[in-house]
Order: sequence, then C-alpha cells, then structure tokens
Amino acid sequence: RVAGPSVLVLFGVTGDLARKKLLPAIYDLANRGLLPPGFGLVGVARRDWQDEDFARLAHDAVREHARTPFREDVWRQLSEGVRYVQGELHDDAVFDQLARTVRELDTQRGTGGNYAFYLSLPPKLFPTVVTQLKRSGLADSDGDAWRRVIIEKPFGHDLQSAQELNAVVDDVFPPSAVFRIDHYLGKETVQNIMALRFANTLFEPLWNRNYVDHVQITMAEDIGVGGRAGYYDGIGAARDVIQNHLLQLLALVAMEEPVSFTADAIRAEKEKALSAVTLPSDLATGTARGQYAGGWQGGARVSGYLEEDGIPSDSITETYAAMRLGVNTRRWAGVPFYLRTGKRLGRRVTEVALVFQRAPHQVFSQTDVEDLGQNALVLRIQPDEGVTLRFGSKVPGAAMEVRDVTMDFAYGQSFTESSPEAYERLILDVLIGDPPLFPRQQEVELSWKILDPIEEFWAKNGRPEAYSAGTWGPSSGHELLGRDGRQWRRP
Ligand code: BG6
Repeated sequence: RVAGPSVLVLFGVTGDLARKKLLPAIYDLANRGLLPPGFGLVGVARRDWQDEDFARLAHDAVREHARTPFREDVWRQLSEGVRYVQGELHDDAVFDQLARTVRELDTQRGTGGNYAFYLSLPPKLFPTVVTQLKRSGLADSDGDAWRRVIIEKPFGHDLQSAQELNAVVDDVFPPSAVFRIDHYLGKETVQNIMALRFANTLFEPLWNRNYVDHVQITMAEDIGVGGRAGYYDGIGAARDVIQNHLLQLLALVAMEEPVSFTADAIRAEKEKALSAVTLPSDLATGTARGQYAGGWQGGARVSGYLEEDGIPSDSITETYAAMRLGVNTRRWAGVPFYLRTGKRLGRRVTEVALVFQRAPHQVFSQTDVEDLGQNALVLRIQPDEGVTLRFGSKVPGAAMEVRDVTMDFAYGQSFTESSPEAYERLILDVLIGDPPLFPRQQEVELSWKILDPIEEFWAKNGRPEAYSAGTWGPSSGHELLGRDGRQWRRP
C-alpha cells in the first residue's frame, strides 16, 4: 500500500496539530517509502511567508516530532515539493493562487491533478473553505484525477450543527470524497479490537451479556488544557472526546461482526451498535462531570482549570465526564458500559476493560480465598499497548489460596514492527482512498444523538464538581459505579 501521485493541501499549517502531528506524519510516510517521489505539500495560512519559511517550519516540526530518524535525502526530496500560499481564507485571490500552485506542482512533480484538502482549522471556517474550493474549481476532479477533503473534529457541537456542517460539505463533495478524522481509529490498538474479536475463537463466545458483567472505557490524561483554552472552553470533555473517540471504542466493542472488511460493512455494524445505545434513566445519577482544581502532579504543583490562561474565572466547562450507557441488543441487554475521560487525572492511560461475572459458585472456602477479583480482559490502547487477561490462580504453598494474576501481551515484546502514528496511517489511507477508518456522517449524527440530552441536562445543572489535579476525578464519578456495587479499575 503506497500512495500514488498527489498533492496534500494543508489548511492551518501554523496550528499545533500540523506542527506536532501532521507534518511529522507526512515525513514519516515519506521516510517509510509510502509517498511517491513527486508528492506535493502545500501549506495555506495567514502568515506572511514564502515557501522557504513554511519549509523551515515543516523541517523543525519533523526534527522535533517525527517517529522515524531524520534523513537528509528524504527531507530534500519531500521539501522540493513544498509550497506556501498566504492569505485570508475568505479572499478569492488566495484560492485562485492555490489553484495555480497545485497545477504548477502537477507539471513540476507529476502529481496528476490528485488533491487532498486537509482542513486543520476551527470548524467555523469549514464553510468558507469548502465554498471557496468549489468556486475556484478545485473541488471538481478532471477526468480520472481525484479530489478529497479531510475534516478534523469537532464535527459540530451538537446534532443540529453537525447536520448543518454536513450540508455545506455535502453540497461540494460526494460522500466518498469526505474523510472525517477520528484519530483514535488510526491507532493500531484500536484497529486491533476487531482483529482480537473476529480473528480468534477464544474471545467471541464470552463477548456478551452471559459472561460480561460490565465494560469500562477509560481515556485519562495527565495534561491540562495547556494552550488550547480557545478551543476547549465551552466544548468540554464530553464533546471533545466522548462524542468521537470513546463512542467509537464503544461501537467497536459492542458491534456485531461485519460481513466483510469493507468500509460500508464495518460502518453499518458500528452504526447499528450506536443506534442501540441507551442513556441512563436518571441523568443526575447516571452521569458525572468535574473540573480540575489545582493540585500535585508528577511532583509539581499545577494550577486549576479556572486559573489557566484564557479560561474565564467562572467557566463551567467540564474537564472530566463519565456516564453509564446501555446497548440494547440481544448481545448486550442489561450490561452497563461505563465511559470516563478527564484531564489532569492520575496518569495518561486509555483502556477498554471487559469485566466478567464472578464464578457462579465458589468451591474455595472464604478464608482461603483472598478477596478474589473478577476476571477481566483489558485492551490497553495506550501508552503501554497490549492486552491483559486477569484471572485467579493458586498461590504456591500448603494452603488453597487463590490470587489474581495477569497474562500479558505487549506490542513491544511480540512484534519487531513499530506502530505507525495514528495520523500517519490515516493520511496514507486518504491518499490511497481507503475509507474503513473514517466515520461517515451517520455515525457522527448517532453520536450526537447520544450526547445531546446529556449536554442539555448538564447545561441546566450548574457547576461541575471540582477534583484535585492528579486524582482520579470527582466523587460523583466514583459514586456512578459505587451505586451499582462496582468500582472503576485503577489502571
Ligand atoms: C484530541 C482531543 O482529540 O485527543 C485532546 O481534542 C486530547 O483534548 C487528544 O488531548 C488525546 O489524544 P491521544 O492520542 O494523545 O490520546
């Protein structure tokens, strides 16, 4: 799988995402030999720059953040195709210039008129860019050449705005040309959920309400809001990552086996799972939200959300969100799916844990059995990628004492191949035109349908509960499971 001749046009090149993820990913693809020699990369932004300035930014980003070692020859080849277009996005002249630039690249680098437009921009700018792409003729492919558009989340901030946004994009690009990025789907460990489930016989027989007591999906971060106040405030944890990353994880865990590994078959199964999701009957006890206060993390004192740069001192944006969802299917009826995410939590970890029911009958007498936990299968998404199976085992010695042990699969030990960064995989898929890892509009809308009532409820219910930075979130988050006689795993 190697990309063919093409140009990637990157809007928002001076942003964080471009510098930390996208530009390094493009270099890594080139370094692994997955981009064609004549690849073109065009940056578009407001800064008054020349091609060389953008090339320098890209160079520095690559040196700092690329996964693969820096190779002068690879960089030179890539940088010869780097161009920069400067201006305001509502200005027709910018897009006319962009059209000239990509056509020149076609001639100079043999890029074949194939263009992917990556909108790494605040969503309010999407309509302007998409409309300009249409006006300037850039959205229409000539002959066999393709045109694709890549949209970064957030896809709207509720169902209605997501539909409005889609209407704008839909008017210009056919659905097959629209690639919505949810970078979690680009992660190896997330793709492995399907491999684990459907390439093995071992797990699937247990993967249902007959054996699974509940499912926990955790995405914890130790970082705070950092320099992203402008984006994050008013959005909050649930819109930022539950609507997309966590509900995608839920869909992959809950879905039925697709009839084939085609994009449509996979998306259809995920959509069925998402449409079966149910909300807690009482949102007050079935959801929780919090906001980090100052505290200690990694031995350093860190400030609270309200003291962060750019955050209004009366902000009620949540930085922690948790909820109990159900999946109303024959496979999952009655099994709670607990989702939680937060910033400034104990440590950075994303995992999916299937916690199994206790053995129906315990032959070991209570005194011999060390408070035996429940069996669990933990899909470790990051940072310590792998899978853990937890079960009870006899402790060596004269007594019949049983203790929980774990059996581990770790990527680093089992594979010599290194995992590509999520964005690397996704950019390659766009250039190849391979859509399975991109949610379609229906999935986006179903996810908003799940979240909208919760957001509405929260909006009417005052402030989120404070939690100290470096802890595992507010007490309401713990009570959410405590009330059901369960507790969050301590990853
Ligand atoms: C992004 C969110 O989608 O995912 C960020 O907007 C979050 O708030 C990030 O920090 C986490 O990504 P990862 O890959 O580090 O888990």
